Amino acid sequence: MAKSKELACVKYEIDDEGIAWVMFNRPEKRNAMNPELHYDMEEVIAELETDDDAKIIVLTGSGESWSSGMDLREFFRATDNDPAARFKAQWAHRHWAQYVATSQKATIAMVNGFCFGGAFCSLAACDIVVTADDATFGLSEINWGILPGGNVSKVFADLANHRNAMFYAMTGRTFDGIKAVEMGIATLSVPKDRLKDEVTTIARELMEKSPVVLAYTKQAMSNVGDMDMNMAYEYLATKGLALRAIDPGGTRERGMTEFLDKKTYRPGLGPVSLEDE
Ligand code: COA
Repeated sequence: MAKSKELACVKYEIDDEGIAWVMFNRPEKRNAMNPELHYDMEEVIAELETDDDAKIIVLTGSGESWSSGMDLREFFRATDNDPAARFKAQWAHRHWAQYVATSQKATIAMVNGFCFGGAFCSLAACDIVVTADDATFGLSEINWGILPGGNVSKVFADLANHRNAMFYAMTGRTFDGIKAVEMGIATLSVPKDRLKDEVTTIARELMEKSPVVLAYTKQAMSNVGDMDMNMAYEYLATKGLALRAIDPGGTRERGMTEFLDKKTYRPGLGPVSLEDE
């Protein structure tokens, strides 16, 4: 049964399949992120994380924009002389982006239009980024006298290679979805009229996997990057044991049995059936 909710700056709908479509909802401001949007996102992501009906979380934008970055009027100018308000808003963004990055559920950014500045931190938090070919990305900060701060420089430099990160930060030039994929900023780029279908296909594919195995896989992938070889071996061995111990579906054992004994499926070509099927 579909569910929906609308707050001041964010709305979401969980469809019958379990895909939670979360929308930044200030289309008239190109979904610029004001403090209220960050507070709404904190509430929404915490809610979806603990709602069993939401299996996959998709972040997208209303109208023609994904997000035009931090709201220059309400996030920056209005809090220039109010450090407490700035601090709260900044941390709300960090919190919800962290919720997304560490969510037990798979998260997909569906980039339908503009993506500027602070929006890269939101984008980087998602596991998978599917963009419209003609979306417009840019580090505009150089154009109006600030650094790509709030960790935009960090996440951009981590995703793109050094040459690209330097070039786009220094020139402020925009780039499209196809270039975003080439640079490693996005996973996949498709014509805009196929964007939702493509995201739905990926979400369905992810929902065929065991949810706990999927959660552990994304955690492992996210964490090993900062480890050296030995630490990564140790961590993955321990994490793998923990997964076997807690996986309620016994996915590994079923997978072995179905491949080796029953010969009913090929793990290289698709997922083993979910336990309750
Ligand atoms: N902060 C505050 N307001 C913003 C905004 C932002 N980041 N991005 C857009 N808006 C507002 C505009 O001020 C305008 O408000 P108004 O209707 O009250 O005048 C409204 O959204 C529509 O923007 P507009 O510029 O007319 O739309 P556009 O489609 O012609 O251009 C952008 C879209 C995104 C290219 C352009 O708005 C822009 O450059 N925004 C700033 C992007 C940026 O530098 N972001 C980094 C912030 S860290």
